[in-house]
This record gives sequence, structure tokens and C-alpha cells, in this order.
Amino acid sequence: MTTLPTHDAAPMQTFTPAPRLTLTRMGYGAMQLTGPGIFGPPKDHDAAIAVLREVVALGVRHIDTCDYYGPFVVNRLIREALYPYPDDLKLVTKIGALRDEKDGSWLSAMQPDQLRQAIEDNLSRLGLDALDAVNLRMNPGGPEFSVCVKTMADMQAEGLIRHIGLSNITLAQLDRALDIVPVATVQNWYNVVHRPSEALLRRCEERTIAFVPFFPLGGFTPLAHAVLDDAAGKLGATSQQIQLAWLLQHSPVICVIPGTSSLDHLRDNVAAEHLVLPPDVVAALDALGDESGSPVSHR
Ligand SMILES: NC(=O)c1ccc[n+]([C@@H]2O[C@H](COP(=O)([O-])OP(=O)(O)OC[C@H]3O[C@@H](n4cnc5c(N)ncnc54)[C@H](OP(=O)(O)O)[C@@H]3O)[C@@H](O)[C@H]2O)c1
Repeated sequence: MTTLPTHDAAPMQTFTPAPRLTLTRMGYGAMQLTGPGIFGPPKDHDAAIAVLREVVALGVRHIDTCDYYGPFVVNRLIREALYPYPDDLKLVTKIGALRDEKDGSWLSAMQPDQLRQAIEDNLSRLGLDALDAVNLRMNPGGPEFSVCVKTMADMQAEGLIRHIGLSNITLAQLDRALDIVPVATVQNWYNVVHRPSEALLRRCEERTIAFVPFFPLGGFTPLAHAVLDDAAGKLGATSQQIQLAWLLQHSPVICVIPGTSSLDHLRDNVAAEHLVLPPDVVAALDALGDESGSPVSHR
């Protein structure tokens, strides 16, 4: 635990990439609430419910979820913990994959009928008539990119999706999608050391699109570096708080969705929103970034 102020000290920062889509820049990623391997129920159901309720109690109004986390586990937990939802809570989900229910393997599900079924499944399990924002998660296989985007646009026109997002994409794909439909959110693997999506982030800034990094803390491989430890020691924070504060300071369109199943970690993460990194620390952290490599990886 640290001495950083809690959310009571200042209002939550928000970012509005589209009318009727105001996201708190400090969000919460719910993927970690499942069992091991993002498969099956949590080891402590009541603890998972408590984390979700604390997310909202702390003022976070941006939760990232997905029907294939578990599968179905996370959406069911969210509904159990939070329904009826606060009016200003934005649930952002994603489609484009399925889990094999026996062995948990990740299966691409990008055909138009599969995307449509995924929307129906998210709506019914979350208990909603329309989804605030849905990220189309690009996976290997499936139809041509524009076919997928047009399917999203059709479902938006039908009122099933309010805002369209894209995940695991390249800059060229974002530009192609923007020729077809407005894009509100982009979700790629990105953090203080892993930055192949830097050019994509700059395009999000130009087009007022929320850039929402997944694995903001390194995901399944926690980030560890002496520069992070030094900054944490200097500022009386944790390494994870430094990582989140760097992301929030790096671009005004970045919204973070750190994942945790721990109440203490959740409170620490939310407190990081008020951590201001001085220029020398920012410069040291900026130097850690690697912009090489492919932005395409993982779920
Ligand atoms: N679009 C995509 O393809 C995609 C892919 C992956 C993830 N996502 C989304 O992105 C969200 C974030 O990604 P993620 O959860 O995989 O990775 P992450 O946020 O980078 O890291 C989560 C890990 O960090 C630990 N952690 C969190 N806060 C901590 C703290 N204050 N101190 C120490 N450890 C801490 C968590 O463990 P504890 O539980 O012990 O805190 C967990 O093991 C997910 O929840 C999901 O919604 C999207």
C-alpha cells in the first residue's frame, strides 16, 4: 500500500471519444476474475464480486469485459455484482473469438454470423438491450477485414452496438476501418516497455479515439525494471502505479484497464490516477520503450 491519495482527493479524469461514450481514463479490466488460464470460475466467487463492487465504489466507470473470458464467467459476475448498472457505467466488450469449452483453447470466430451471435450472447448475459462499445478483436483466419467491419457497422445501425472499437490491429487497418465507420476505441498490447503501436496511438490522438492498452502492466509477464523500481522509490509509489501513471501522462487519449483480482491492488491502481510523474522520471521511462516488433499478439 502507498500513501498516494484516493479518488476522493480529485474527480476522476474522463475521455469522451464519441457523443454518449464518456470513459473514466482509469478503467478496470475484468479478465483476471476467472480461474487460471482465463478459464472457469474464480477460486473465490465472493472476492470477485467484492472487487467489481469496489471498482464502481471507487468511481471507475469503464469496465472492460468479454463473453469468452471464462467463457461466460466474467459477464455473469459483472451482472451479478452490478446490475442494475449505474447510468454512467460503460461496459466495453469484445468479440472475434471463442473458447473450446473442454480444453479452453482460443478459437477465432470472425465470420459475420459468429460476430452477430457474440453480440447476442453479450447482450443476454449482461442483461442489456444495447452494448456501449464493442471491440472487434482481429484474430488469424476469418473473412476479409472490411467484411468484419461492415458487419459491425450493420449491427450498430440496428442499435445493438452504440460504439465500435477495434483490437489487435495495425495502423493500416485502422485507416481502412475509418473509411467505413467511426471508430471510438482501439485496444492493442501496449505498455511502458512494449510500444510497437506508437504510430497507431498517434493516429488515435489525431482522430480523438480512445487508445486502451491491454497488458498495461505486462499481463501474464509482470514488468520489472530497475528504472521502474527507482521511480517507485523516489515517488513513494509502487512499480505498477508508476506504469499506470506513465501511460496516463503519455497521451491524453489513453485510458487504462489494469486487471486485478485483488482489492488492495485495485485500490492502489485507482490511486495511480493522481500520481504526477516529474519530467526526469518521464524521460527515464520514455527511454524504456521498444517500438519494434509486431503489434499483433495474444488475446
Ligand atoms: N483486446 C485484447 O485482446 C485483450 C487481451 C488481453 C487483455 N485484455 C484486457 O486488458 C485487461 C488488462 O490486461 P491484463 O489483466 O491481462 O494484464 P495487466 O493489467 O497488464 O496485468 C494484470 C496482472 O497484474 C497484476 N496486478 C494488477 N495490479 C497490480 C498491482 N497494483 N500490484 C501488483 N500486481 C498487480 C494482476 O495480479 P493480481 O490479480 O494479483 O492483482 C495480474 O496478474 C484485461 O483485464 C482484459 O480486459 C484485452
